Amino acid sequence: MEEILLKVEHVSKNFGATQALKDVSFTIKKGTIHSLLGRNGAGKSTVVNIIAGIYKQNSGIVTLDGNDITPYSVFERQNMGVKIVPQHASIVPELTVGENVFMGIWPRKKGGFVDWGKLFIDAEKELRKYGLDVDPKEKVRNLNGVDQRKVNIIRAMHGGAKLIILDEPTTALSSVERQELFVFVNELKAQGTAFIFISHYLQEVVELSDDVTVIRDGRSFSGSDGGELNEERLASLIAGEEVELINREKLPDNSGRELLLECRNMSGHILKDVSVKLYRGEITGLVGFPGSGARELCRTLFGLEKMTEGEIWIGGNEKVGIRNPSDAMKNGISYVSYDRHKEGIVGLMSIRENISLPSLYTTLKNKLGFVDMEKSRDISEHYFELFHVKANSTDDKLNSLSGGNQQKVVVAKTVSTGPKLLMLDEPTIGIDIKSREEIIENINKIAEEDHTSVLYLTNDFDELIRTVDRILFFKNGRLEKDVRNHGLSHEDVINIRDSVG
Ligand SMILES: Nc1ncnc2c1ncn2[C@@H]1O[C@H](COP(=O)(O)OP(=O)(O)OP(=O)(O)O)[C@@H](O)[C@H]1O
Ligand SMILES: [Mg+2]
Repeated sequence: MEEILLKVEHVSKNFGATQALKDVSFTIKKGTIHSLLGRNGAGKSTVVNIIAGIYKQNSGIVTLDGNDITPYSVFERQNMGVKIVPQHASIVPELTVGENVFMGIWPRKKGGFVDWGKLFIDAEKELRKYGLDVDPKEKVRNLNGVDQRKVNIIRAMHGGAKLIILDEPTTALSSVERQELFVFVNELKAQGTAFIFISHYLQEVVELSDDVTVIRDGRSFSGSDGGELNEERLASLIAGEEVELINREKLPDNSGRELLLECRNMSGHILKDVSVKLYRGEITGLVGFPGSGARELCRTLFGLEKMTEGEIWIGGNEKVGIRNPSDAMKNGISYVSYDRHKEGIVGLMSIRENISLPSLYTTLKNKLGFVDMEKSRDISEHYFELFHVKANSTDDKLNSLSGGNQQKVVVAKTVSTGPKLLMLDEPTIGIDIKSREEIIENINKIAEEDHTSVLYLTNDFDELIRTVDRILFFKNGRLEKDVRNHGLSHEDVINIRDSVG
């Protein structure tokens, strides 16, 4: 008999009129990995925030080692060994990496002063252990979103814990980094630490979990492995129905298509002599390891990275200069970054305000220079529905939405500007399996009906081959291969990626 560590019993929670959890129960055994699954807005973050003491439940109890922990604060629960890595970074951006890693438990000299020397040396050790190559004296605000996420994880791992809650820890990580994280998690598990793991990647859930609980319609369904954990079964448990995978009917070629944009001999910090033509209505996939040039192509076309040589032509006859995102937007180019949580949204503004933000100074302005509120409402309603954002209305504040629903708003916002070139960098990260298909369907529609050219970057090759007409393979800054997707398989993509250059 495995020992029980934590029990959630008949927990309910509402936020105003929103009933986030109705009756949720599950049991975490010592030294096991327990995955928590459900659609965007199902209540996963809510329940783990209740376990960590960040939110208080309306009814039900949570017990740790048999004792009701409801009266205890977040801090007291941390000392009892319950630690959480929240869905969005909770680090303090103005402090250094080292200070963040040891938050609140900084080493002190006799007399009580913080021992900075020791703090940074210890921090360096912790960072290296997890393979994070950043300076412990760097301010966290200067790190990219992925590294901020890692600092968060290292902080929770440090100092031992009975239960570590990882709320979508892998969303911003590359496949190599994921594997590193899993090795780390399994090591701690072997030493007796239990984990609650939240993820929309069913493959990694199956790989990692001992037990799973699915939350749907505010209620929970639990099960354990014994061979019954497979992706298909989990998918239908999560969605409450069979999820049909969208498979785009691929364009046979781009003959007769209107040329939208051409890069001629483009070079930059990473890019080397890249020439490529992008056509209207075509969805082009980008493949390559981090630093290969795949992501840098998008970032350069959006003016986030400097082009040192080469030219960008639009429509075959106009040479354009793109020095910053505003230049890019003026030329009808938009970009949803993989790091979107950092740059994309304003939490205290409503969904409507967020969606209309980029159009405020262009399409939404009437002749007198005032913002056309009615049009703003129409546009945001349209995209709110198109992307099935789960909220009461477009007046809801963005930070009252679940993580996945915030991301849908970011994608909606970018699409709502009606770009000629839409660049999507990992657009379905953090998105549940059913919503993912809805997004892919919308992208197809946008390519087909609005004749938008789409650049699509994802590490999920199963998703890629269902979605794109053609794939550009990058290595060491160079565009090495341009392949049409006539029935490519996942393995084909890996083989080509590994053979180029
Ligand atoms: N602070 C809040 N104020 C109002 N409503 C909230 C708040 N936090 C969460 N909610 C609502 O509670 C519900 C559950 O949200 P939660 O964040 O737990 O979902 P989730 O399962 O973590 O989803 P995701 O996969 O998108 O992260 C949603 O309808 C959300 O809008
Ligand atoms: Mg969440």
